[in-house]
Amino acid sequence: MEKPKISVIGVGYVGLCTAVGFANKGFSVMASDVDPEKAEKINQGIPPFHEPGLKEKLKDSIQKGNLACLVNQTEKVVNESDFTFVAVGTPSKPDGSIDLKYIQTASQDIGKALNKKETCHITIIKSTVVPGTTQNTVKSILEQESKKQCGKDFGLCMNPEFLRQGSAFQDTINADRVVIGAYDKQSGDKLEELYKTFYSTHTPPIIRTTLSTAELIKYASNAMLATKISFINTIANMCEKIQGADVKTVAAAMGLDKRIGPLFLDAGLGYGGSCFPKDVKALIACSKAFGYQPELLESVENVNKTQPLKAVQFCKQQLGNLKDKKIALLGLSFKPDTDDMREARVIPIINQLLQDGAKITAYDPVAIPIAKTIFNNQIEYAPSAIECIKNTDCCIIVTEWDEFRKLAPEEFASYMKQPNLIDGRRIYKLEGFSNKINYIPLGLGR
Ligand code: UDX
Repeated sequence: MEKPKISVIGVGYVGLCTAVGFANKGFSVMASDVDPEKAEKINQGIPPFHEPGLKEKLKDSIQKGNLACLVNQTEKVVNESDFTFVAVGTPSKPDGSIDLKYIQTASQDIGKALNKKETCHITIIKSTVVPGTTQNTVKSILEQESKKQCGKDFGLCMNPEFLRQGSAFQDTINADRVVIGAYDKQSGDKLEELYKTFYSTHTPPIIRTTLSTAELIKYASNAMLATKISFINTIANMCEKIQGADVKTVAAAMGLDKRIGPLFLDAGLGYGGSCFPKDVKALIACSKAFGYQPELLESVENVNKTQPLKAVQFCKQQLGNLKDKKIALLGLSFKPDTDDMREARVIPIINQLLQDGAKITAYDPVAIPIAKTIFNNQIEYAPSAIECIKNTDCCIIVTEWDEFRKLAPEEFASYMKQPNLIDGRRIYKLEGFSNKINYIPLGLGR
């Protein structure tokens, strides 16, 4: 039997991984994006962002003719496919709620295409949208533009994505679960069947639910993970006040409790990236709009706001006034294995250090080009970690890239002017570092 044809609207992390995932399994996939540069790169087999493992799979999909990316051709790709995944951005507005302009435009274009389509098409919202959006915004626009009825003439599902940057492609093809929120049973059945073909013998648990429950599952999952991080950071901050207490050991022991689990208990300078900060804010705004004040989530966010500035406080404790002090920052991306600096914890750290008059040199294995677009020549950029720490008064580990783990205490001691090392991600073993340099690990009582 011929495989159904897939279209994808928006080729950011979620859209491109979805497109490449289906193309790699032999589906014919057409994508459409508003950005011509992005589309051109994709058609040449080059991912428009740094993502391990994606390049080979993308190249293979393009070479086999299973994937093509068009510019602003939503109507065409919908017309020529059976399922359309919508993965456009839902950026934050100043009040924390999400901006639905891209979702609205995509829905209008899909609706226009549906108006001319003979066969029953299924639209699947993959973008992260607050509960009620698929039903109230997407469905209404699709019906208005197509002059057809949802659930009868066309199908509509909400199917959130849980991929992590740095392992985005692997997460797409090896999901923990598939959540299918469906407007009508038939659309849900068809999408379930599509995923069963996609995953074959490795099909993960499939959760069938309503549109708004599916929307909430995504937010609740991210908010839970963000809560774990702010929780362990709170414990880290407490540990620092208690002689002999170490958050690393606390987290390791807590993680052995099956009800808690070991993941997302790494204390550090807080969470960043394109999802957690935005999603926690959006869930707070959405909850307030529904009439419930989500105090727990507000605290999660507040802890995350102050956490990165601890690195600056530690600097001041060691050096006093920071004016003209040389500070080395190791790591710029919001986490290792990505060049993404959206909401990276280094941004508030740099802003505060600049305000205090410090001279900053930064190094990151891949994020320097992005950092230059944010900080221009306000800071210096080093070509390696060693060059970065040379002649500095204090070094802060901001992102836990593997290559920083390999730096030896002697290297900090011999290259730095004053060997003050703030370990904002707890990547070094206490024993090796404590005697040779002034090692200040986050979350350790002294
Ligand atoms: C996250 C979710 O994990 C993913 O399911 C969702 O689809 C998108 O958002 P991502 O933003 O790629 O993925 O990164 P993730 O690995 O979850 O890390 C997010 C942030 O939390 C990073 O800044 C990371 O440094 C921080 N973090 C993570 C901690 O500070 N401690 C931890 O224990 C784990």
